Amino acid sequence: MQKEIYEQPKAIQATLEGRINNGRLLEECFGADAGEILDGIDAIKIVACGTSFHAGLIAKHGFGDLANVLCSVEVASEFRYRRHVVSKNTLFLTLSQSGETADTLAALRIAKKLGYKHTFAICNVQESSLVLESDLVLMTRGGPEIGVASTKSFTTQLVALLLLIIAVGRRHGMAESTEKMIVEQLDSLPERIEQVLLLDEPIAELAKQFADKHHALFLGRGPQYPVAKEGALKLKEISYIHAEAYPAGELKHGPLALVDAKMPVIAVAPNDKLLEKLKANLEEVSARGGHLIVFSGIDAGFIEDEHLQVIHVGPTEQAVSPIIYSVPLQLLA
Ligand code: F6R
Repeated sequence: MQKEIYEQPKAIQATLEGRINNGRLLEECFGADAGEILDGIDAIKIVACGTSFHAGLIAKHGFGDLANVLCSVEVASEFRYRRHVVSKNTLFLTLSQSGETADTLAALRIAKKLGYKHTFAICNVQESSLVLESDLVLMTRGGPEIGVASTKSFTTQLVALLLLIIAVGRRHGMAESTEKMIVEQLDSLPERIEQVLLLDEPIAELAKQFADKHHALFLGRGPQYPVAKEGALKLKEISYIHAEAYPAGELKHGPLALVDAKMPVIAVAPNDKLLEKLKANLEEVSARGGHLIVFSGIDAGFIEDEHLQVIHVGPTEQAVSPIIYSVPLQLLA
């Protein structure tokens, strides 16, 4: 897993190769028929499992905020077993590292029977069933993922999703300047991730404090909430420490009662439009004597004290910040 965490700059570079140029998306990367299919799409339904599901939850924000289209996300094991109302012109999008996850594959087959007009897969394994059975495909080029916990597949999925967000956005009024901004951010991503990987040492120090803990709480808002969910999943899976993630605004509706000095609270807190709201939530944690570990930018203005530690991830641009902030949480796990 650690090797694959460190492979992320290369994996992202490979996933972008030949797909962007001069600040623009090269739409041919989706295949010859893609243009016509995407022209007719006005909503996205994402179905996936586990970490891939978290990538979908992050992309939902991008589809809504950047591409102006409705997007809903569901875990495949739920999608499979309920009745559906299919709205026409919805693209059925599956996300999977392996392309063989039974629930995701079953969901794709059901979606076709239900009459979803077109199916699209973002996947890491070329010869997988999911790839073979989908109309359109965008491969992540992470290379084989041997670690049980998905890392480079997750971040390359997020890159591939941003490419699709641009393609859909172009058809729904995305300004050329927005496309350029996203592409520039993607272009500099491998280098940015290299910098984040340098945090390995302070994060290893931090991890020592976790060794005797039994529970941890992860908080985020907006697209950083699914980043927090992914951080909690990785901690559970790799460190066998119970962890939950909450959208920070929900804290006061129950989970705050659990917070005390024994439970570290990890916040994903880049300097974005929700930062002030998040800070107010974190004050509630401090008021209960909770120990806060904040992953943030230097520009966010957190000041360390005995109950608050900051890991500086660096200032980040909006569209790619969920990708950048996922990496230190992988290192922590
Ligand atoms: C968690 C993890 C799993 C997978 C899930 C889906 O670290 O790796 O949650 O994300 O089993 O697998 P794929 O993406 O192959 O469909």
